[in-house]
Amino acid sequence: MTRRMIPFIDLQAQRQRLGQPLEDAILKVVRSGAYVMGPEIAQLEAELCAFGQAPHALSCASGTDALVLPLMAWGIGPGDAVFCPAFTFAATAEAMPLVGASPVFVDILPDTYNLDPARLEAAIQAVKLEGKLVPKAIIAVDLFGQPADYPAIFEIAQRHGLKLIADSAQGFGCTLNGQHPIHWADVTTTSFFPAKPLGCYGDGGAILSKDARFHDLLVSLRVHGQAVKSDLEGQTFDHDPKYMNMRVGTNSRMDTVQAAVLLQKLTIFADEIAARNEVAKRYAEGLSDVVATPTVIDGGLSVWAQYTIETDDRDGLAAALREQAIPTAVYYPLPLHRQPPYAGYPQPGGLPVTEAKAGRVISLPMHAYLAPDVQDRIIAAIRNHVKRNG
Ligand SMILES: Cc1ncc(COP(=O)(O)O)c(C=O)c1O
Repeated sequence: MTRRMIPFIDLQAQRQRLGQPLEDAILKVVRSGAYVMGPEIAQLEAELCAFGQAPHALSCASGTDALVLPLMAWGIGPGDAVFCPAFTFAATAEAMPLVGASPVFVDILPDTYNLDPARLEAAIQAVKLEGKLVPKAIIAVDLFGQPADYPAIFEIAQRHGLKLIADSAQGFGCTLNGQHPIHWADVTTTSFFPAKPLGCYGDGGAILSKDARFHDLLVSLRVHGQAVKSDLEGQTFDHDPKYMNMRVGTNSRMDTVQAAVLLQKLTIFADEIAARNEVAKRYAEGLSDVVATPTVIDGGLSVWAQYTIETDDRDGLAAALREQAIPTAVYYPLPLHRQPPYAGYPQPGGLPVTEAKAGRVISLPMHAYLAPDVQDRIIAAIRNHVKRNG
């Protein structure tokens, strides 16, 4: 008899916990007819501000757009360099070519997989020295859910006059010394893709920011560069200014129904983060003597988008676990600088840590509803495999 695969992420357990109020919230939107920019959107943005300790929050269509819109707002484009890791999902680097700018790949720290501040400093110096690109911004990624080294990265950004984006698509809710990434970053972006720690039932994203005028600009860019309050000050029109466009923007509105889902999910998100940390603790207790288990930055709280271990025998382990109906995943087998669209971009000093990690990492089932007996099965299967294979 074949055993049913255990879920890698159990969205159905979460849906059952949320129960009728979740379905009522969705139905309310369906019945209201306010499918685009309904009242749930502003409500969600207010709640994201409160949760993420940010003065402003803008919902948008995806975590990818959440990265592109700030670059557009800052006028970053051809000839500009934006520093980011290559050990991340494609969207982090994709945002730059989408506005005509160049990603510059920077290596990561071997223990946290996040941007290495010393390598970042060296990369900025190298780009400045070469003089072909103008450094404009840094995108730090909160990979697998834990905060990057923001105090060090912020200091570098300040010294070189660079904007700082926290790509918290995997890390929304993470903190460092009790502070959310926006404490240091100019903007924090996130994704509400269903598999993310805070996910909706489709695509969605958000941008947290600190400056009112900048937020206003994002509001405009989200809807085709439409005129916003600050554009209209002191002007009169003989037509509806709703159709007055002040700049080239895009359409990146979040669907109201997704905001309704997220409002429900936010009510249990803090509790889920605590549960994910319990799961991570159990994995560490059960596995740290047989495989390399994750390290979280000192003072950091991870939201554990992934629980990623390292082994030289990744394929063997994945196959052994699959046989026991335990799924695994590899984030990321091929770093971005090895992929066709990104191979030509600068990587000053090379990316040796990125290269090494890409060959060793493997992620285990991780979600807030992983029952201890199921987790014990996963831990035992890994321990048995390691024991058998030395
Ligand atoms: C680090 C990172 N940045 C950006 C994104 C893009 O988010 P989305 O899929 O919502 O466009 C993702 C998600 O997949 C991600 O993992």
